[in-house]
Amino acid sequence: MPEKAYTKEDLNYNDETTRATVEQKDESARPAIKNKLEGLEKYDTVVIAYPIWWGQAPRIIDTFMESYDFTGKKLVPICTSASSDIGSSGDYLHRFAPQAKWQDGKRFAKGASEADVKAFFAGLGLVK
Ligand SMILES: Cc1cc2nc3c(=O)[nH]c(=O)nc-3n(C[C@H](O)[C@H](O)[C@H](O)COP(=O)(O)O)c2cc1C
Repeated sequence: MPEKAYTKEDLNYNDETTRATVEQKDESARPAIKNKLEGLEKYDTVVIAYPIWWGQAPRIIDTFMESYDFTGKKLVPICTSASSDIGSSGDYLHRFAPQAKWQDGKRFAKGASEADVKAFFAGLGLVK
């Protein structure tokens, strides 16, 4: 959860002065996260899921990546988008955890079924 919730207006990408778009244009923006993730050490695989914002993961995902140590973990980027593919957004995140075992990511369209999602994770051997 973001410390400061995004309003509908913050997410209006037809107006380039709104919060989400201003953050995306600034590679150093690190919106704060309210909650702390506990018990990450118990997991070998972490799925990094995000919506595409101007071709990349939202900057708050950069905040998340910088907040934890993913060394040795398997990381899987997945995203949703209106129309863009995952593009370079998964690879962009590698810089935050170069010691992780990055997997090829996947974009899911609006309306992707649970079966589509399961099939992707089954392909990675993460679900049956
Ligand atoms: C600031 C902003 C920028 C976006 N940029 C893109 C984009 O470059 N390509 C795209 O296909 N969708 C883009 N979208 C649409 C989101 O990816 C889409 O709304 C989201 O994946 C759907 O998840 P939601 O239902 O949680 O909003 C953008 C949305 C926002 C708010």
